Amino acid sequence: MKSISIGILGLGTVGSGVVQILTEHAGLLENRVGAPLRIKRIAGRGEARIPLAPHLYTRDLMEVVRDPEIDIVVELIGGTDIARTACLEALNRGKHLVTANKALLAEHGLEIYRVAAANRVDLGFEASVCGAIPILRSVREGLVGNSIRSIVAIVNGTSNYILSQMTDSGGRYGEMLAEAQAQGYAEADPTLDVDGSDAAHKLQILSSVAFRGYVPFEAIYVEGIQGIDPADIGFARELNCTIKLLAIAKEEGGVLEVRVHPTLIPQSHPLASVGGIYNAVHIVGDSAGPLVFSGLGAGQKPAASSVVADIVEIAHNILFFRPSRSSLLPTNAIESVMRVKPMENVLCRYYLRVTALDSPGVLSAVSHVLAENGISIASMIQKGRAAQAAVPIVMLTHEAVESAMRRALETIDRLEVVAARTVCIRVEGMEE
Ligand SMILES: NC(=O)c1ccc[n+]([C@@H]2O[C@H](COP(=O)([O-])OP(=O)(O)OC[C@H]3O[C@@H](n4cnc5c(N)ncnc54)[C@H](OP(=O)(O)O)[C@@H]3O)[C@@H](O)[C@H]2O)c1
Repeated sequence: MKSISIGILGLGTVGSGVVQILTEHAGLLENRVGAPLRIKRIAGRGEARIPLAPHLYTRDLMEVVRDPEIDIVVELIGGTDIARTACLEALNRGKHLVTANKALLAEHGLEIYRVAAANRVDLGFEASVCGAIPILRSVREGLVGNSIRSIVAIVNGTSNYILSQMTDSGGRYGEMLAEAQAQGYAEADPTLDVDGSDAAHKLQILSSVAFRGYVPFEAIYVEGIQGIDPADIGFARELNCTIKLLAIAKEEGGVLEVRVHPTLIPQSHPLASVGGIYNAVHIVGDSAGPLVFSGLGAGQKPAASSVVADIVEIAHNILFFRPSRSSLLPTNAIESVMRVKPMENVLCRYYLRVTALDSPGVLSAVSHVLAENGISIASMIQKGRAAQAAVPIVMLTHEAVESAMRRALETIDRLEVVAARTVCIRVEGMEE
């Protein structure tokens, strides 16, 4: 019986998880695939992190990539330099490729998809978005008959953990980040998680698959959670809302809006109760209607679970002589680049916290500036009087265009009665 030979690049968190699942579930997987899945070689950098037969392990990545017996190369080293070289080499050698590398695909996806298509090989990247949640497979296959209307998602477990802890304990951002690091939910350098870049990488991949066209990474608007203040979490609660870092993609008339930023959502929103390190995707298809997927978005076994799913799918294709299924790639991604709406033109509702002196005429000055820019106030919370001291004025606006809101904020922050920079958080999922 033919076996499917697998070469693994990187024996870190996910790599070790994949080896464990392929080993522990060897019998079950053989049954499901119809042939044994054989780990032929594994490349790492230092000492192997898990016990391995010595002949399996090498410190030379290219030895694995160039091994003529290997059918599927699994890239789990991360980064965009060596990983890119190794992946392109594997594809050009006719190997099928599985990768969990969101940074690589978000930044060099077009090149990788093109080389995979040119070599007629499969490319699986389920683990690159939302860890264990089979969201790419669900969108690509389960929702294939739909035109996707919108995606609103929590795709970064670290920032979701920090915001959830801030919400539950009232703690400050820095304290909750330190706690996330102590729990192993944030890296020593957490930048990519908290500044929104990791979420943007995932949104680039997910939206390219869902909207069937390549979304340029640079076109995604990105804001992180570093500026979130406990005061705003408190006011959000008073408004029956919560604050989440959301990845949002919406299509209208062939133009996409794609953005990642902290967002106020009502407590009744399906994503409001998704706490801790969990990820969730709320997606609306024109026929299917709204769906919610949730689960662990990172971690050794959750990510490895999705890597193994890709390996099994590709093994099936090899065994049943199915030629490379271009549907594994974001269909049309190679030819069609999506048009993206500039952020300035995006329309949404806003939460504003203006810090102003408690003197007569302040409210009318602020609302005058908003009105001049075509922005109307939907509701307001004004906190107690404090002679001479600044007090917060919190408002929810009706829908406004981003450029108008930016103009209004510049003017508001120049008013003499305004004592600090106005906090502005976009709102999602709140009926007008
Ligand atoms: N961790 C997750 O929960 C998760 C979830 C979804 C997707 N991903 C993605 O999966 C990929 C791997 O993540 P990870 O968390 O497993 O990272 P990791 O723990 O840092 O593992 C990467 C491994 O690759 C090895 N490596 C790096 N450069 C190498 C080279 N030139 N030659 C040989 N080995 C090399 C590293 O060796 P050293 O140990 O010597 O540095 C390390 O063992 C990344 O693209 C990540 O974005 C991770």
